Amino acid sequence: MRSVVCRELDVPESVVLEESPPGPLDPSEVRVRVTAAGVNYVDGLFVQGLYQIRPEPPFTPGSELAGVVEAVGADVDSWAPGDRVMASVGLGAFCSEIDLHPNRLVGVPESISDTRAATLGQSYATAWFALTRRAMAREGESIVVLGAAGGVGLATLDVARSLGLFTVAAASTRSKLDLCIQRGAHEVIDYSTEDLKTRARELTGGGADIVFDPVGGDNTEAGLRSLREFGRLVVIGFASGAIPALPANQVLLRNRSVLGVDWGAWALGNPELNAALMQEVLAAVDRGELDPVEPETRPLSEAGAAMRDLLERRVAGKLCLVPGN
Ligand SMILES: NC(=O)c1ccc[n+]([C@@H]2O[C@H](COP(=O)([O-])OP(=O)(O)OC[C@H]3O[C@@H](n4cnc5c(N)ncnc54)[C@H](OP(=O)(O)O)[C@@H]3O)[C@@H](O)[C@H]2O)c1
Repeated sequence: MRSVVCRELDVPESVVLEESPPGPLDPSEVRVRVTAAGVNYVDGLFVQGLYQIRPEPPFTPGSELAGVVEAVGADVDSWAPGDRVMASVGLGAFCSEIDLHPNRLVGVPESISDTRAATLGQSYATAWFALTRRAMAREGESIVVLGAAGGVGLATLDVARSLGLFTVAAASTRSKLDLCIQRGAHEVIDYSTEDLKTRARELTGGGADIVFDPVGGDNTEAGLRSLREFGRLVVIGFASGAIPALPANQVLLRNRSVLGVDWGAWALGNPELNAALMQEVLAAVDRGELDPVEPETRPLSEAGAAMRDLLERRVAGKLCLVPGN
């Protein structure tokens, strides 16, 4: 089997592709042949030791995957060889083969390709959790999505559209904004050249109901100030590298709320609720109500470059690694 290995916490390019014979399969586990592994912003943080959880090297990065069950342990009766599956694993996905506990696996409907299955778990679960469990988004409301051409951003645009919201996508380049329009955004803001607060208020008829923020930095306060009465700022992440401090008077004014979202910790602590949430997402994709972007694919050997591209803001949409044969 082939695995991408982080031997020391360092720049993404320092990961190496290694070959090793597979060990024996534990009777309680399932062996999955990985057909695609999604690349997420967080993977590049893990290998540099910059994420809040700091695994000791050596480890294999990669937080989500799709594949086919190759073998099942003697004690497993919930899966059979040939089943198509996906899994959120935190670490370990950038490889050609992985052994997992059966309850980590989710079945993939026929209608969803391996590459989409490998890249929709984290982004759509986060977006779905944020809008349906935290912001309680309602049909007819408006949402401004920051970093809208990124993984979580595009998923949020799609989920918001499916829930009947008016969507405004904010991103930093023309090509990213074009992708958002192609993916169904009603309006767009180039926050590298336009004033986010002013444009968000104009485009939403006086103020947004929801601002969704996976970026952080100065845009967060501008987003908060663009909210209307009872508006909600949803704090998702800090891809810009800057964790903003917010003026509390801007929360008080207009009865606004600031909502934190930590889908990963919630999913870990509530596996059954998360499995139900994932089923909601997959059923909506299967019915054609959600339409995850088809990712760009790269070979496993390009894991370092793929993580670097995400960290340097060069990716529009999703990336995945394909181990091949
Ligand atoms: N809270 C949760 O449960 C949860 C779950 C999943 C992910 N997250 C977090 O959400 C954030 C986004 O994740 P993602 O997978 O959507 O990442 P992504 O695909 O890389 O997208 C992030 C977006 O942020 C923007 N950005 C602004 N400044 C940046 C910078 N200096 N470097 C990189 N990107 C920058 C970019 O858009 P523009 O160029 O258009 O500005 C980029 O498209 C990450 O911080 C991640 O850890 C949180």
